[in-house]
Amino acid sequence: MPQTVRGVIARSEGAPVTIEDIIIPDPGSGEVVVDIQACGVCHTDLHYREGGISDEFPFLLGHEASGLVETVGDGVDEVKPGDFVILNWRAVCGECRSCRKGRPQFCFDTHNALQKMTLTDGTELSAALGIGAFADKTLVAAGQCTKVDPTASPAAAGLLGCGVMAGLGAAINTGEVGRGDSVAVFGCGGVGDAAIAGSHLAGASTIIAVDIDDTKLEWARGFGATHTVNSTQADPVAAIRELTDGHGVDVAIEAIGLPEVYRQCFDARDLAGTVVLVGVPRPDMSIELPFLDVFGRGGSLKSSWYGDCLPARDFPMLIDLYQQGRLDLDGFVSETIDLNGVEEAFHKMERGEVLRSVVVF
Ligand SMILES: NC(=O)c1ccc[n+]([C@@H]2O[C@H](COP(=O)([O-])OP(=O)(O)OC[C@H]3O[C@@H](n4cnc5c(N)ncnc54)[C@H](O)[C@@H]3O)[C@@H](O)[C@H]2O)c1
Ligand SMILES: [Zn+2]
Ligand SMILES: [Zn+2]
Repeated sequence: MPQTVRGVIARSEGAPVTIEDIIIPDPGSGEVVVDIQACGVCHTDLHYREGGISDEFPFLLGHEASGLVETVGDGVDEVKPGDFVILNWRAVCGECRSCRKGRPQFCFDTHNALQKMTLTDGTELSAALGIGAFADKTLVAAGQCTKVDPTASPAAAGLLGCGVMAGLGAAINTGEVGRGDSVAVFGCGGVGDAAIAGSHLAGASTIIAVDIDDTKLEWARGFGATHTVNSTQADPVAAIRELTDGHGVDVAIEAIGLPEVYRQCFDARDLAGTVVLVGVPRPDMSIELPFLDVFGRGGSLKSSWYGDCLPARDFPMLIDLYQQGRLDLDGFVSETIDLNGVEEAFHKMERGEVLRSVVVF
């Protein structure tokens, strides 16, 4: 029987979100209905609400979530009812040219549930990142569910479903930060702080946090930043060179999505260093770089989607580190709220007051 539950809907560009009844179909072949336990508010939800990602309104927002598997459709053997899972937005296909090359983390054909969730009048919903978890329940593809230790806090675990994984992976997977490396992270929101935590976990010895907000810089220290630079008060490139014997950092991570900050990353890295872009640019942005330096400085300029993670490999491992006290996921949870608090949480995010507001059910 299809179920009616509450969901947070963005009906049109820029309009405040509303809470509405939505219909969750029974899971079809390869699909799963998940009873959501927690879902973080990510900047990408706001990008959706503002029409920055697609114009396929109405959106069912929320995508950084954990929950309990309620029912499974035919052919689902990855998970069973009662499993505690983190939802992911890159369920790999195993068959595209990237998967066939043994690089499933770059899968070009990730999949979601085939059926649509709808409003009560039958209007089809676009689920944010194929998840839509600001709702009591949601419908996803089985591959979007990764089983983890059920004793982990749902609010903390759900964060691995997007921003925190994106930041951790930008450092560990994409940037390949290693023991003794120097790293600079530009933008210390949830994503940037996760990149700092990832660099710390990987053994980086110098971790420089750059932001325009002193409170954010103070929080960044809590995740492992060894130095901080307020880029409204000092030239971040000069400051980073000074902190690295004039050389620049091995890995510079952009966690905002601004061309001018990308340029700072480019200039702040050492010879043969790596720039990692994890912040999401807007469609109207472009960058210009001195072409000779792109060549002459060597190294690599990389982009990081979802921290180049493999959920089945990375989520259980990171939850284990969290349970052992080696990864402070709780530190990202600034507040817990209910579904009614999502709109206000967007404003808190815009005012820079939180790392993550997390809806708990
Ligand atoms: N690549 C991915 O897979 C992925 C996944 C999730 C989120 N993201 C993106 O990562 C970005 C960051 O997300 P978030 O949730 O951490 O956002 P956030 O808004 O919480 O954090 C952004 C931080 O950047 C700082 N900042 C703004 N302008 C700055 C400047 N000019 N110089 C230095 N610091 C500046 C802000 O003070 C804030 O601390 C967003 O673009 C988001 O869409 C990417
Ligand atoms: Zn694939
Ligand atoms: Zn997100």
